[in-house]
Amino acid sequence: MVSVNDIRTHFLEYFGRHDHAILPSGPLVPRNDPTLMFTNAGMVPFKDYFTGRAKPTSPRAVTSQKCVRAGGKHNDLDNVGYTARHHTFFEMLGNFSFGDYFKERAIELAWKLVTKEFGIDASRLLVTVYAEDEEAFSLWRKIAGLPEDKIIRIGTSDNFWQMGDTGPCGPCSEIFYDHGAAIPGGPPGSFDEDGDRFIEIWNLVFMQFEQVAGGERQPLPRPSIDTGMGLERIAAVLQGVHDNYDIDLFRHLIEAVETATKVKANEENRASHRVIADHLRATSFLIADGVLPSNDGRGYVLRRIMRRAMRHAHLLGAGEPVIYSLVPSLIREMGQAYPELARAEALITETLRLEENRFQKTLSRGLSLLEEATSRLTKGDMLDGETAFRLYDTYGFPLDLTQDALKNRGIGVDLAGFTDAMDRQRQEARASWAGSGEAATEEVYLALKEEHGASEFLGYSTETAEAAVLALVHEGKPVERLEAGESGAVIVNQTPFYGESGGQVGDTGFIRSERGDLFRVNDTQKKADGLFVHLGKMEEGELAASEAVRMEVDSARRATVRANHSATHLLHKALRDTLGEHVAQKGSLVAPDRLRFDFSHPKPMGEAEVRRVEDEANAIILQDAPVTTRLMDRDAAIAAGAMALFGEKYGDEVRVVTMGTVPGESGEARDYSVELCGGTHVGATGEIGLVKVIGESAVAAGVRRLEALTGEAARHYLAEQDRRVKDLAARLKVRPEELMARVDGLVEERRRLERELAEAKKQLAMGGGGKEGAQPVREIGPFKVMARLVEGVALKELRGLVDEGKQAVGSGIVAIVGVNEGKAGLAVGVTSDLVDKFNAIDLVRLGSEVLGGKGGGGRPDMAQAGGPDGSRAEAALKAITSRVEELAA
Ligand code: ALA
Repeated sequence: MVSVNDIRTHFLEYFGRHDHAILPSGPLVPRNDPTLMFTNAGMVPFKDYFTGRAKPTSPRAVTSQKCVRAGGKHNDLDNVGYTARHHTFFEMLGNFSFGDYFKERAIELAWKLVTKEFGIDASRLLVTVYAEDEEAFSLWRKIAGLPEDKIIRIGTSDNFWQMGDTGPCGPCSEIFYDHGAAIPGGPPGSFDEDGDRFIEIWNLVFMQFEQVAGGERQPLPRPSIDTGMGLERIAAVLQGVHDNYDIDLFRHLIEAVETATKVKANEENRASHRVIADHLRATSFLIADGVLPSNDGRGYVLRRIMRRAMRHAHLLGAGEPVIYSLVPSLIREMGQAYPELARAEALITETLRLEENRFQKTLSRGLSLLEEATSRLTKGDMLDGETAFRLYDTYGFPLDLTQDALKNRGIGVDLAGFTDAMDRQRQEARASWAGSGEAATEEVYLALKEEHGASEFLGYSTETAEAAVLALVHEGKPVERLEAGESGAVIVNQTPFYGESGGQVGDTGFIRSERGDLFRVNDTQKKADGLFVHLGKMEEGELAASEAVRMEVDSARRATVRANHSATHLLHKALRDTLGEHVAQKGSLVAPDRLRFDFSHPKPMGEAEVRRVEDEANAIILQDAPVTTRLMDRDAAIAAGAMALFGEKYGDEVRVVTMGTVPGESGEARDYSVELCGGTHVGATGEIGLVKVIGESAVAAGVRRLEALTGEAARHYLAEQDRRVKDLAARLKVRPEELMARVDGLVEERRRLERELAEAKKQLAMGGGGKEGAQPVREIGPFKVMARLVEGVALKELRGLVDEGKQAVGSGIVAIVGVNEGKAGLAVGVTSDLVDKFNAIDLVRLGSEVLGGKGGGGRPDMAQAGGPDGSRAEAALKAITSRVEELAA
């Protein structure tokens, strides 16, 4: 038997042989369309190639595209499990021509694959064409040789394919397989066409138009081809089964469900096995593509799918979480074709387990409430909306889960009553905001949040996305449009822009409309618990509410922010390892050009400690270890050793960011840094490049701050330092590594020279270099008087000179004026035998007055003073000797 995996490969290789580029599946969350919740057809990633907005690298392509039809326009969720062919997740095989070949070649290629390569008996096939498409009709006659009664003209929208309300579209032609007369049903177009006998296996769309908003249809620049063949359906045909759930892939998954629940599938419980197998696929692929369960948007669709599966596991009697344990079976089946599954295995498993654990707590209580509320209802009755809302609000039962639970009994849900109950609760919530004292500008955001719900953040996995404008704000009020030159805020349904939080700055970038209008985003803030507000200025043109726009994050800036954020985690861990477990984060700033990390520590870090922190963090950077993110229960995450950020608020579920490994006690690899964090991070630590601490300082008592640079900024900083060292070395004429010794030598030499110079000056002063040097000592009566003027000698040196002078005269009076840079210092000494007659203080004061100074002080045998007027030095000495003469007389 040919397996699903073989069929997929065969399809891709067949078109590969016919010059089609074999491309990997695009993501389930479309990057290029704000109106689509999930990728729901193979052509979605190529939409812009058909319309000519973007250029393909190859004019022909082939893919096996992951599709989800749950939520949004195409929604098959309610039918899954109860029919042979509905899935929330499926694979669409498709070949594409972007303005290259058209109808004829498309029909040729398709017919040959189906009849020759797959070997399907042509007599079992029939086709439909759009009623007006004569060309397609005659091509089928010519190429396939089909008789006219097997080419059915259909005039309805069934044969005109449209992606959604807008987008590329065109007439189509579908190939049907006849499963045989044993199965009831008529050919397409007949009154019993909805029977299961004739099954569409391949849709060939002749893309010719673009449907634009407002109902108009414009021709595409060049006619193109888009085809879609459900892999599960063609596998059923090729494996000779009638039911998609009987193909090998589903049989294996259903066996895994049987093993995990210990319940064999039978007629009665078959739907549950199928729902679990189907939902396991949708859930795992969505998580692998970045969707995580939440209470809004895509995350809520995921949560609904997960919980629906969990109820069916519960129906099969599972008292413990089981669905997470099926992930390895899924990876065995599909991991080779979709490597992203294995890469995200831990994330998928943990997200499922967490959701199962949480929901288990309320599932049985909710089900008993439901049991009670419906015990008296019978087929055709309605469950009241109030109870359905209570199940939703208190027990976490998505509405469709309640509907699904009642489906078998033929009981519906009063939807209007449900909506009323929901509205009532919203009004109460609003009333409580009014009393919460938020500032007026915040109120506008509270109201917008209530009206539009939380913004969906796409920025963990992309930096560009299409979005729909939900609201515009100018001067604190909602407005219909923002005009050129106006500042304001833009609110969209989904955004790749990170809103400032957890120390990480908000993203900047551009919002553009298709017409080229341009809004520059200068900051992104999160308001009202989940509303992302893009603040900035309308640079060109204008924006109106409800328009489709393209969101572009400044990617280079985000890259450096990411590196800086991941680096703070590494520094945090390295600080704890180096300084001790008392280190706790007290705040941080993660900006594009630098990072700051504040932490509790009682004293300044030593140079060696800083170096150790830096070395440890850089060792993890060199590991180039992948950075992984998981969603966990808050308590479980903390119990597992995750470091919580200071002052952050968390919901029940938290993101846990892990990076790097270190050897554990018995040599096993242990996670290095594990933190709760909602920020954006590098994919692998190597992207940080390098971390360099450039400052360590105090911020408050017991709180220290590290400042650091990463990547290019760190490299520039080090390059600048290096340049300085080289300059210095060149000036000192040594090699850089000799710089230390050279500088030490210079410092030492300078000290020695200073000492020698002081000595020399003293010698010079005493040795008769002064103006009166020739006759420094005079006799006045019986007293010896030394009066000297010395140049360039500092005041503090004068006392030493006076002491030496006193020794030289033995008994007498010594007066020395030192002139330095125009100012004068004066010191007078009187040998102790003469202090009764002469007072050094009096003499100094006399001299100081002449020098233009005031006062002076000391002891009777040694006093000193200064004066501003060095030119009066001789006069000062003269005044002192005159006084001595007077006293001696
Ligand atoms: N886009 C076409 C479909 O989804 C092929 O059926």
